[in-house]
Amino acid sequence: MALKVAVNGYGTIGKRVADAIHLQKDMTLVGVAKTRPGFEGRRAVEKGFKLFVAGDGTKEEFERAGISVAGNLLDLLQQSDVVIDATPEKVGAANKPVYDEAKIAAVWQGGEKASVAEHSFNALANYPECFGAKKVRVVSCNTTGLARAASVLRRDFGVQHWEATLVRRAADPGETKRGPINGILPTMSLPSHHGPDVRTIFPDLPIATTAVVVPTTLMHVHVNHVRLARPPSDGGKVLEAFRSTPRFVLFRGSDHLEGTPQVIEWARDLGRPRNDVMENVLWEEGLKLDGEDLYFFQAIHQESIVVPENVDVLRAMFQLESDPLKSIERTDHALGIARVAT
Ligand SMILES: NC(=O)c1ccc[n+]([C@@H]2O[C@H](COP(=O)([O-])OP(=O)(O)OC[C@H]3O[C@@H](n4cnc5c(N)ncnc54)[C@H](OP(=O)(O)O)[C@@H]3O)[C@@H](O)[C@H]2O)c1
Repeated sequence: MALKVAVNGYGTIGKRVADAIHLQKDMTLVGVAKTRPGFEGRRAVEKGFKLFVAGDGTKEEFERAGISVAGNLLDLLQQSDVVIDATPEKVGAANKPVYDEAKIAAVWQGGEKASVAEHSFNALANYPECFGAKKVRVVSCNTTGLARAASVLRRDFGVQHWEATLVRRAADPGETKRGPINGILPTMSLPSHHGPDVRTIFPDLPIATTAVVVPTTLMHVHVNHVRLARPPSDGGKVLEAFRSTPRFVLFRGSDHLEGTPQVIEWARDLGRPRNDVMENVLWEEGLKLDGEDLYFFQAIHQESIVVPENVDVLRAMFQLESDPLKSIERTDHALGIARVAT
């Protein structure tokens, strides 16, 4: 029988995760919940998703907006095996007692502290550790990108030391209230929180990160310097390690993808829903091995990179598939991102 999944919080991440769950053969999307009516709620109902009222929202408010609702959050939880919380940062943690009371398994997003759950999760990195877990956090977009790359580099070459600078998008495209609009903001916590967050998955990874926020909404870019423990004879072998791993896309010079605008244009040309790029994006010319020192750029689409992980985490928690690579293949096939030829 298909796993019954609720999605609480239907914004940037929640609506993508709901679509992804809906596409999986071994899962059923029971419904989605949000507090206010609006175009996203209306669209959910038009798509045939059941919409439930959460938080301080009221059924009357939705009905006045002409949006029919199927009940409240508790009704949704009662009909489901697991809830994926995609509410704003800190709201997810505040929802924990509600999920505990409803005795339902839960998945949180990277905006919450690691302590909200038993485990932090990334499919390539630690799927087996989350086997059978009841409360798991899918790490943030930047941490997902770093954890995937770390999975490859640790497995094939070992990591002595890693320094990464994260060039962070200031806001998502729909977030009109955020900035900066003309400036580069150094993140004044040194090192940044991203390195410790990757260590919630790889406790012994010697990584230190710093971050700056720049006025773009498209993607983040990571500038990486990794000292490898077992460096290969040439950089081509590192490229091959990334290329042969799911959820990595590598572009070459002749593709003329100069930066994040062209990556998003590539996704548009592929007809990807919402221009989503759920893979780590690398450039062949943007990777260089100098002895034991590896330098590489990777671009991370903040709005969508965690979506496939929110599917795989359920297969781990509910022991639906013991092999992470098989779960990844099923997820990616359903999402149309399996082994993209560039
Ligand atoms: N966006 C990213 O780049 C990104 C990347 C990775 C991880 N994350 C993490 O994912 C989580 C969600 O982020 P997001 O970017 O998707 O946020 P978002 O776009 O603001 O969406 C959150 C949605 O939750 C709804 N909501 C607010 N209060 C609620 C409540 N009490 N109960 C139920 N729903 C509620 C809001 O709609 P209503 O007001 O209509 O209810 C809103 O649409 C955060 O932990 C974030 O850190 C975000």
